[in-house]
Amino acid sequence: MNEFEVTEQALEFVRERINDDPETGLILGSGLSDLADVAHNQVVIETESIPGYPRSTVQGHKGRLIFGTIEDRKVVFVQGRLHVYEGLTVHAATFPVRLLAELGVKSLILTNAAGGINPRFSPGTLMWITDHINFSLGRSIRAGHTQAPETASRVRHKAHPYDLEWTGRAAELAREMGVQTESGIYLWTLGPSYETKAEIRMFAFLGADAVGMSTVPEAVEASARGMRVLGLSTITNLATGLGDLSLNHEEVLEVGRQVQNDLQRLVRALIVKT
Ligand code: HPA
Repeated sequence: MNEFEVTEQALEFVRERINDDPETGLILGSGLSDLADVAHNQVVIETESIPGYPRSTVQGHKGRLIFGTIEDRKVVFVQGRLHVYEGLTVHAATFPVRLLAELGVKSLILTNAAGGINPRFSPGTLMWITDHINFSLGRSIRAGHTQAPETASRVRHKAHPYDLEWTGRAAELAREMGVQTESGIYLWTLGPSYETKAEIRMFAFLGADAVGMSTVPEAVEASARGMRVLGLSTITNLATGLGDLSLNHEEVLEVGRQVQNDLQRLVRALIVKT
């Protein structure tokens, strides 16, 4: 597994350009790129200039790392998430997580756009991810990693990737701020095509509250690297068959933009207060 490991060269390249190592990282989902605006003293690094960083090809995803501060917290935002549906391996798509881990990030917030399956969710709903279903691989995200069995058994305790204590405090904070949030289970489908009605009926039956094309590989990789992980979905649309519209990427981006204000306030508070 040497390809897409973070090299000394990549680390040096980044460290030469930033002022301080970041403590908190955020990976930004579709239509949520502007969340990075909350950071001050920004240093922007184009990901294509970082040695070994895989390329992203999706519309609306700029490949950039934005380092900065929010009050006294040092943060890094990843704009332009990498997706497995682009033809990348899981290992390639999780390169940014390993890079952040090597830079010393301890807390990772994963945001995404998702289709709502739970009938109580409407477009614009914010959902904390309490658990996930890996529907894309049919095997562990980390299959292929060469680990001694004893190491593997030590990571078994992290079979739950999301930090529920952090999530609980985040939900409480949102309540105090008057931002309404829900929580639920996120199902990862490979994409890039949206689902059929029959698939969504099956996902509902399996217990999924929302469906999307990202986040799960990153959550697993981050928790295996010892980070605490928070997952936050923006429900941008009702999943196929639950609304009367056919789905398109533009609509997903537009709803993302509409909830941007609440999300920005929330993310800022999360970073400073939790
Ligand atoms: N399905 C899968 N991924 C998505 C959706 C959806 O309906 N909306 C936003 N991302």
